[in-house]
Amino acid sequence: MPHPRERTLTLISFSSGIGLEASILFAHEGAHVVLADINVGGIERAERLIRQKYPSTRVLPIRTDVGREDDVKAAVDAAVRELRTLGCHGIMHPADDNALTTEERIWDLTMTINVKGVWWGCKYAILAMRENPTDESKGLHTGGSIINTASFVGSMGAATPQIAFLSMSRELAMVHAREGIRVNTVSPGPLHTSLLMDFLNTPEKRERRLVHLPLGRFGQAVEIARAALFLASDDSSYMTGTDLKVDGGLTSAYVTATGEQVLPPPRSLADGLTECPCDKSK
Ligand SMILES: NC(=O)c1ccc[n+]([C@@H]2O[C@H](COP(=O)([O-])OP(=O)(O)OC[C@H]3O[C@@H](n4cnc5c(N)ncnc54)[C@H](O)[C@@H]3O)[C@@H](O)[C@H]2O)c1
Repeated sequence: MPHPRERTLTLISFSSGIGLEASILFAHEGAHVVLADINVGGIERAERLIRQKYPSTRVLPIRTDVGREDDVKAAVDAAVRELRTLGCHGIMHPADDNALTTEERIWDLTMTINVKGVWWGCKYAILAMRENPTDESKGLHTGGSIINTASFVGSMGAATPQIAFLSMSRELAMVHAREGIRVNTVSPGPLHTSLLMDFLNTPEKRERRLVHLPLGRFGQAVEIARAALFLASDDSSYMTGTDLKVDGGLTSAYVTATGEQVLPPPRSLADGLTECPCDKSK
């Protein structure tokens, strides 16, 4: 692998689900981590775990509402000296439903966090990445790597609709390509995290999804974090404007195979820290 270790990376991330796994994985690779989340308890737990596992990692906990531009700017400013990488995630509000039933305030909230929040994150990261020096000795390109978390629902229709963004990241990738700033998205399939499992809270609801998943299981947040690490590293130096689907084959599937799943899911890097109600039903 490339590596974060070859130079200092800073990851800005949420403190649960994909963000937590990515924070631990990036810390393992020698990166600094800015925990920027609205949930102070979540930040504290994540910080404890990372410090315990990787005492030399610099962890910056910053209570951040990504629906507020000043907060996003403050989080990026905190990371700015060594900023190389940024991960932006979003939310799935339980009341985010279809076009007929979604209330305007839920629409506005979702758009503010999932689109405006990502826009602000990208904006301040790009301004900071422009200042990154060139390392001629290693032949490393300047700039940085922005990784936004999208979703398979951005590429597929669902009878339980959600609207996802993809085009903004693609456009940013085109506009800033000649500055050495890469912008890619990771599109997770359905994951075994509380975000989804709180929603799929019966065996029937879970089964209704599982039948569409070629690998026969929900994904793990750590599997998305690994894809983010690849996009952050120079191994992906020729990738920009790409949507990397990490979805167990979902978006390629028509009829899925039957039978038991063959490959067991990888373990969470945060074992013992996270509690997901779905764990009881595995
Ligand atoms: N879990 C899945 O099945 C799945 C599938 C496809 C895409 N995704 C996408 O991945 C992203 C992350 O998913 P996850 O499973 O890690 O979710 P998660 O619920 O575990 O994490 C979301 C984090 O966002 C934080 N947050 C919410 N509102 C915030 C705000 N205004 N400001 C700052 N922080 C805020 C929460 O505190 C939480 O820590 C989301 O964009 C989601 O749509 C998830």
